[in-house]
Amino acid sequence: MSPNASSVAPKGIQQYIAARQGGPFQLINAPYPVPGPNEICIRNRAVGLNPLDWKNLHHGMMVDSWPEIFGIDTAGVVEVVGKNVQGFKAGDAVMSLAGHGGRAGAFQDVTTVPANYACRKPTAWTFEQAASVPICYLTAVASIIKGLGVPLPHLRELPNERIPNLDDLTSPMTPGATQPQVKPPLLTSVLVIGGSSGVGASAVQLLRDALPHLVIITTNSRAHNQKVTSLGATTCVDRNMKPDQIAKAVRDASPDGKGVDAMIDTVAGAMAGNKEIFGAFREDGPKLYSHVMTGEKLEVPEGVKAAMVFGRMAFQTDGGGAAMTKLVDLVESGRFKLPLEIEGVGKGLGVIGAGLEKLRGGVSGTKLVVSL
Ligand SMILES: NC(=O)c1ccc[n+]([C@@H]2O[C@H](COP(=O)([O-])OP(=O)(O)OC[C@H]3O[C@@H](n4cnc5c(N)ncnc54)[C@H](OP(=O)(O)O)[C@@H]3O)[C@@H](O)[C@H]2O)c1
Repeated sequence: MSPNASSVAPKGIQQYIAARQGGPFQLINAPYPVPGPNEICIRNRAVGLNPLDWKNLHHGMMVDSWPEIFGIDTAGVVEVVGKNVQGFKAGDAVMSLAGHGGRAGAFQDVTTVPANYACRKPTAWTFEQAASVPICYLTAVASIIKGLGVPLPHLRELPNERIPNLDDLTSPMTPGATQPQVKPPLLTSVLVIGGSSGVGASAVQLLRDALPHLVIITTNSRAHNQKVTSLGATTCVDRNMKPDQIAKAVRDASPDGKGVDAMIDTVAGAMAGNKEIFGAFREDGPKLYSHVMTGEKLEVPEGVKAAMVFGRMAFQTDGGGAAMTKLVDLVESGRFKLPLEIEGVGKGLGVIGAGLEKLRGGVSGTKLVVSL
């Protein structure tokens, strides 16, 4: 019989808690969690560090109360499954979205999440590699389906040539932005701002898989051009140029030099002062602007149809309830590669604080991961 919530009573766990905004972190002992009927408990073997973690620590961006347990990405081994859970059993190696704090946070020995947040770990990936992917992949899924209205073939069986009516969109709009109301024409070109970020490198691959003929232009540092084009980008533009030069280079690289139909902005905070980028839209195009929620307030010009997206939104999309389950097929069929190089920052919960400060200082094309 597989272990389940009623048959297993493992020992207590350690949690790495942020005592208050700004820290410090403390390691505390806690009872072993009891999963709800649709949840699983994962013994974490590696956790990914994300910008949201240090933003929560220093700005309390999504924190309701202190102390809190951060961590959005994990990979590990299932230990206990809730009574209604199917598809997982104790001993399965998985990767999972974590988050929401408390027992769902990744920065502890055992994380408890809804079963659909997790999927089998691809056999070729280490726990560290697997822990680097979930939130970036899910945010990219949301940015494409919710932000651009493009269906993803691995989640929904639809012909690639059709784009659904944007009236379906339910994402929160940027203040002042125009609500998407018209059905957009076929997208021929998309700019991914931040093509070498975790979200950007995921979005490039998903866009390429969905729309094989799409012109995908990215902005990133030149050092990452080869990597980003290998993932599916058509042209990379040096993100370190002046804003007006970036906009011109994007237009030059677009079909007939007229500009792009849509943008996915994965580093929306970094672009907040760069209004010139909107000059890279095709004048008579749909001007779709899908931007990731970064905590920065953004203003977009009139006529731009903006939508703010975040990772968990992927589960609310058509077919997206299975977004994690379907990721394994995507990886094992070679259609989705590891978005970023892994950079280990040490072993044990105790090194997470130092890792977050390193991340806060800035990374370039790498994902910081802690082994447990
Ligand atoms: N709300 C959510 O659910 C959610 C989920 C995931 C991420 N996010 C947010 O989305 C953002 C991206 O997250 P991430 O994990 O993908 O970040 P990341 O991988 O840590 O991003 C680092 C990359 O950003 C690129 N970058 C920085 N400034 C840039 C600019 N002005 N133009 C182009 N590229 C620039 C750098 O590119 P180069 O090295 O090439 O210079 C670097 O490689 C963060 O603000 C994060 O908080 C939100």
